[in-house]
Amino acid sequence: MTSEPRIRHRHLLGLSTWSAEEIELVLETARHFREVLYRRIRRVPTLRGITIVNLFFEPSTRTRISFELAEKRLSADTINFTWSGSSVSKGESLKDTAQNLEAMKVDMAVIRHSSPGAAHFLTECIDAVVINAGDGAHEHPTQALLDVLTISDHSTSIAGLNVAIVGDITHSRVARSNVFALRALGANVTLCGPRTLMPREVEKLGVRVTDRLDEALEGCDVAMALRIQLERQGTSMFPTLREYHNTFGIRMEHLERHRDLLIMHPGPVNRGVELAGEVVDHERAVILDQVTNGIAIRMAVLFLLSGATEDEEDDGNA
Ligand code: CP
Repeated sequence: MTSEPRIRHRHLLGLSTWSAEEIELVLETARHFREVLYRRIRRVPTLRGITIVNLFFEPSTRTRISFELAEKRLSADTINFTWSGSSVSKGESLKDTAQNLEAMKVDMAVIRHSSPGAAHFLTECIDAVVINAGDGAHEHPTQALLDVLTISDHSTSIAGLNVAIVGDITHSRVARSNVFALRALGANVTLCGPRTLMPREVEKLGVRVTDRLDEALEGCDVAMALRIQLERQGTSMFPTLREYHNTFGIRMEHLERHRDLLIMHPGPVNRGVELAGEVVDHERAVILDQVTNGIAIRMAVLFLLSGATEDEEDDGNA
């Protein structure tokens, strides 16, 4: 007898321990919820009565807004916390802040923080389910899940696809989470970037490594460009942004040479640095599809970790 697939984790802190079956379940659930986004009234009652706090200690546009939208689409009650204007600016710690918010009876907490491990730390401070919305250079699991959903929209199977992740690998939580998700699903992953921005022994994660963009793009199905994270680099890791673009930037000549190459970027994009402006706007760039898929993925993750069931009737406005 085969059992129904289910998520074995209480929290979503990272994808290094998530199985292919669990990731597939999130993707399948997201495809189901994505349909809600195209209804006349884009709301279902699935998380009615659940209270979610969004704790953003770092700037964010896409992740913060899509979590908020996902929560609204699922009819959850939400509280939005940003560090500016909060008592954190008066010296209150993460633990005290979280425990005070939990005292107001929240069920789930979404956290973005500049410190790797902040989401894990939060699980030790509060009882609420914790979802990592990006912790320093560690992981950004919902970004990788929306990335694999977007890739799956263009391919019958992730298994066997060749995916190149190009840029500042060392400082990229997006790269780490994508390596875990893509490897779990059977993709071949190549990491490409300046040696100064490549973690040591990263090959141990089962990826190919190169500092030559042409080599990374040869036979490649998907190229995922990463933002150069100047705010996380102590000193400049390459001579100039112009030289970076000339060496690692994906340009029209690459799209002309690789006629089926899909272009992705988690955003925010530095136009003219990791991607040429014409590449960002090209029809084979699916950057805005990634953003739309982000809402569906976050609806799926919130639903699957909430413990809610879909027994409640939905609003019937399809
Ligand atoms: N991709 C991503 O995490 O973007 P934001 O920083 O705008 O949330």
